[in-house]
Amino acid sequence: MKIYTDLLSSIEQYVKEKTQNEVTGHDWFHADRVRHNSLYIAKKEFNNKDIDLFLLQAIALMHDLGDWKVNTTKKTESEILGDACKILKIPESYSLQIVEIITHLSYSANIEKKNELPLEGQIVQDADRLDALGAIGIARAFAFGGRRNRQIYNPNIKPQTLKSTEDYKNTENPSINHFCEKLFLLKDLMNTKTGKRLAIKREKFMKKYLDEFYKEWSGED
Ligand code: ADP
Ligand code: NI
Repeated sequence: MKIYTDLLSSIEQYVKEKTQNEVTGHDWFHADRVRHNSLYIAKKEFNNKDIDLFLLQAIALMHDLGDWKVNTTKKTESEILGDACKILKIPESYSLQIVEIITHLSYSANIEKKNELPLEGQIVQDADRLDALGAIGIARAFAFGGRRNRQIYNPNIKPQTLKSTEDYKNTENPSINHFCEKLFLLKDLMNTKTGKRLAIKREKFMKKYLDEFYKEWSGED
């Protein structure tokens, strides 16, 4: 329906504008890749059956707008998303779902207990997590770490088990530790078979990268 195509164009414009200064891997291109991967999973695994493609794309594009990692305002994530929905004139039946799903989607919101999500949320969660893996995931981890003054690697600081949202948010560990502390846990947390298959493939690549990293670190020929 045309109204939803127009709404999606407005959401695209809005996300591009709001993320223009973002350099930690939560920019427009991340949002667009998450949308692309979400559409891929929806078609491949469900043949789009029972999936609201507007809702799927809206949450994919908007999912990091109010995330704690990029939020520099005093507003809560719900307020940022609610404001965006109002400005974009998204019908209330959708805006309520968009805010509810996105605020329960992130890794940090699911550490202590796994939130129940509708199919659209489960797919976007997998797509978002896939973008934290593989070649792009590696680049994003170092970009994020650098921006937060984290070291690349320090062999004296061992990876931790981060069991609470607070621990996860407060750790200042080197970026390489993030691979074990979070990224390698993701494949077992995937909601869809397609997400899991791609996560396994991307994790393999990261492990190869780490092998090479440690080899060079130890001065091996
Ligand atoms: P999620 O909701 O799963 O956190 P996001 O797209 O919001 O997904 O952010 C995930 C990205 O944030 C990771 O791919 C990684 O690049 C970055 N990140 C978060 N915490 C850390 C950290 N402690 N060290 C390095 N990168 C981090
Ligand atoms: Ni994201």
